[in-house]
Amino acid sequence: MIILKSAEELAAMRRAGRVVAEAHALVRELVKPGLTTWDLDRAVEEFLLRHNAVPAFKGYHGYPASICASVNEVVVHGIPSRDVVLEEGSIISVDIGAFVDGFCGDSAWTYPVGEVAPETQRLLAVTEEALFLGIEQAQVGNRLSDISHAVQSHVESHGFSVVRDFVGHGIGRQMHEAPQIPNFGPPGRGPRLKPGMTLAIEPMVNVGGYQVEVLADHWTVVTRDRCWSAHFEHTVAVTEDGPVILTVL
Ligand code: MF3
Ligand code: CO
Repeated sequence: MIILKSAEELAAMRRAGRVVAEAHALVRELVKPGLTTWDLDRAVEEFLLRHNAVPAFKGYHGYPASICASVNEVVVHGIPSRDVVLEEGSIISVDIGAFVDGFCGDSAWTYPVGEVAPETQRLLAVTEEALFLGIEQAQVGNRLSDISHAVQSHVESHGFSVVRDFVGHGIGRQMHEAPQIPNFGPPGRGPRLKPGMTLAIEPMVNVGGYQVEVLADHWTVVTRDRCWSAHFEHTVAVTEDGPVILTVL
């Protein structure tokens, strides 16, 4: 069942989304060669707690940290570590979720560390564009898979591939609600979008093949071919006036 949110509930989700966006603004400033992903996790957790937000990931199915920090060939769910030191030319996907007044905001962004190769810049640009093309389809009366199809078409037209094993999701009082939102598939399928639906749209895009595997820590997801991967995510409300992105400043 897809839970529709009232105007008051959407206002709470907007507050959660704003704090998540503010945490991303902090991350964008901090990301530099020499920083560890552990440092980033500490900084974000402290920021969220100071702003009366509850980190959504910590303790979720036993996840040990407040952010996911996924470097280069890590697709999602990289665990922050004192041993992972950011290097010039790398990319890092930072995923942040937080609850404010009982509602969740969830957003991921992939940041370049210093100067990155042109092909890597293209990966980041195409994945971000795919996110916004997906968001554009989050219109009343469209069907859910119109989002999926917009993402996949853009990504594949640029020669990259879309991860199949992880998907976007409804979001609200729970971080994960119905529906699942694949980043691939034909248009015109699935439920019709209604005002009050809140969706976390999150393309995960690989330079090489779409296949992924989970490492022995049971969390870290890497590309099977070890080519690099990017991840961009916003929490979005479907409204009569079009899609409203909640995870912005
Ligand atoms: N933000 C991610 C999602 O959209 C995942 C967080 S996984 C967790 O599902 F375990 F770290 F919470
Ligand atoms: Co998400």
